[in-house]
Amino acid sequence: MNRTCAAWVIDLLDVQPSDKMVEIGFGPGVGIQLLTSSASAGNVAGVDPSKEMVAQATTRNKQAIASGRVDLRRGSVTSLPFADNTFDKALAINSMQVWPDAVAGLREMRRVIKPGGKVALGFTAYSGQPNTGLTDTLTAAGFAKAHVLERDKSFCALAIKP
Ligand SMILES: C[S@@+](CC[C@H](N)C(=O)[O-])C[C@H]1O[C@@H](n2cnc3c(N)ncnc32)[C@H](O)[C@@H]1O
Repeated sequence: MNRTCAAWVIDLLDVQPSDKMVEIGFGPGVGIQLLTSSASAGNVAGVDPSKEMVAQATTRNKQAIASGRVDLRRGSVTSLPFADNTFDKALAINSMQVWPDAVAGLREMRRVIKPGGKVALGFTAYSGQPNTGLTDTLTAAGFAKAHVLERDKSFCALAIKP
């Protein structure tokens, strides 16, 4: 259901073939699959706390996992299992609204993004996330140049790690 929003958000991130990407709250793994096509020579990681979602996403991305291009972990945005400054770009689609603490989660995303790297938070109309306050939330988490774009009834907050 969120494929169109995920494709738009990935487009906004201007993914380069060799980018290292991470998706938080990947759900059934559709975004991971789209990212693998965009970062065709790069690597894609993902973190989601749900055993069912990890199982579905693993099935959907079986070949890319087997070839070592995709690394899916069960975990939470509150403590990402990656070193500082690892990723060129990070995203979450319809996920931030269910995190226990959005600013703390975004700070953790900032930690694993390289300086100059981008974050994108996409939301569909039925996400439950209000389209207000997102730039303040990103700024509170230490991101710069936060702004929100809208398309149809979806919206995406983008920012950069200074
Ligand atoms: C509404 S689903 C969206 C799934 C997928 N991104 C999509 O667009 O289809 C929200 C996802 O966020 C995940 N999630 C919930 N709490 C989380 C947390 N603390 N850290 C990371 N992901 C979380 C859920 O397990 C779920 O897969």
